[in-house]
Amino acid sequence: MRLSLAQGLALRSLCLSCMSSIVRGADFDGLGDLEAPGALAAAARLLANTHNELVVLATGPDATSIQMVNNTLVSLEGVGLRRHTLLLADSWTTCRALLAPPCWWSSRTLRKPPSDSRTMTMFWDWRFRFYFIKKLYIASLVRHGFAVLQADTDTVWVHDPFPMLRAMQGSSIIAMKDTALANAGVVYARPGSAAAQRLLDDVAWRVQLFQNWPEVVPEIVPFAKPPYYANSDDQTLLNDAIVSAVTGNRTFLGSTARYEAKNRYNPDGPAWDSTAESHIWRRQLSKMYKRQRSRTVTVPWDSRSTRYAILPLHGANDSVALAPRALFAHLPYDPRNAVTHLTAARGFKAKVSTLQKIGMWNPNGLPKGAEGTPPASSDEHHKGPTRKGAGAKGGAAKGGAAKGGAAKGGAAKGGAKKRWSGRPSDAPEE
Ligand SMILES: *[C@@H]1O[C@H](CO)[C@@H](O)[C@H](O)[C@H]1NC(C)=O
Ligand SMILES: *[C@@H]1O[C@H](CO)[C@@H](O)[C@H](O)[C@H]1NC(C)=O
Ligand SMILES: *[C@@H]1O[C@H](CO)[C@@H](O)[C@H](O)[C@H]1NC(C)=O
Repeated sequence: MRLSLAQGLALRSLCLSCMSSIVRGADFDGLGDLEAPGALAAAARLLANTHNELVVLATGPDATSIQMVNNTLVSLEGVGLRRHTLLLADSWTTCRALLAPPCWWSSRTLRKPPSDSRTMTMFWDWRFRFYFIKKLYIASLVRHGFAVLQADTDTVWVHDPFPMLRAMQGSSIIAMKDTALANAGVVYARPGSAAAQRLLDDVAWRVQLFQNWPEVVPEIVPFAKPPYYANSDDQTLLNDAIVSAVTGNRTFLGSTARYEAKNRYNPDGPAWDSTAESHIWRRQLSKMYKRQRSRTVTVPWDSRSTRYAILPLHGANDSVALAPRALFAHLPYDPRNAVTHLTAARGFKAKVSTLQKIGMWNPNGLPKGAEGTPPASSDEHHKGPTRKGAGAKGGAAKGGAAKGGAAKGGAAKGGAKKRWSGRPSDAPEE
């Protein structure tokens, strides 16, 4: 049975009001936990548009992240996509206490660092809790037949990107472009070839493997010495997965080997450029870029014609596309582009001031009752108990936020991604 959004919201609201009851009826929604049987596909069915497309956003509990996600939801509402957005919180507490429904979480989310790799001990914050499940759920949603646009919360939405994504046939994965290759902060994937599905699975697997089992690193990188860095950054892992899928040879050199070599966080490794691995990696990259092709697409909202690169997947009639700027743009902001990612504004303050300058800073979120904007006529239940009522009092709100190392540590710098990965440069290419 396919529930309308309004019906689904009504179920969730009803259930919030029955949280304290012990007997759960047929309308029990699994607490909004995407690990509940069938919950992920049910949430996606509830949210997807008529093309089976949805947006996925994730957020942590600290005040800056909540403001940032609130702002993004306002921006998404402006292009009619709030109602098609799956909002994934880092915890049940965050979901219940700090966010307006509909909001989901996952009981598979990590609560503590799962290993003592350098990555875990130096950088752990709330974002690490769901790096793996985010990638897992994207892969799983695509397997269920959905087209998913996963975005960071430091994004500005001016045009609905889906019509243009639909027009870019022949690429079942379309990622934002970045200096190194793709930017993991804005990635779209739809059902396509087995090779593309495998690429998505590969990214999730790599995050899980390196977060949990740094011990395997020397099997993959012969020169690695403990304590292993065991890079689990989704961007460098995604880029190695892309190189692997395009060349037809699985590589770990750009993400894993590169970070076991000497870098500012890992001073004891060999100089990267002196390793045989760095030379092989360069050959792999050039092999990949030799396969690169150019495509043209018409921008639906202003009829411009624009070019973009595709990287054909080995053994498949499918490719990874690097989105043109009209679709996924770095700063500087230009309202002709659908989605602008504020990667280059480093830190929360810089992002806020950028957003203020363009008149797109709305940290208080949508007006009460407007979230998801289900048809007014069938929305009676939604107007009942709200998250605000349920959560404002809960010590939950405070507890959750206080614990987010985020507030104190690195991620204080925003719902923004702090990419520690020491890539050549974080400056956008364009
Ligand atoms: C490859 O895919 C495109 C659509 O993406 C299709 O038009 C074309 O016929 C396919 N080619 C082969 C050989 O299957
Ligand atoms: C993968 O790499 C191996 C070893 O370098 C090579 O022999 C093989 O031809 C490569 N496969 C592809 C599909 O390029
Ligand atoms: C975020 O938005 C919700 C309403 O959508 C509001 O209740 C909450 O106070 C906002 N949070 C912050 C930090 O502004």
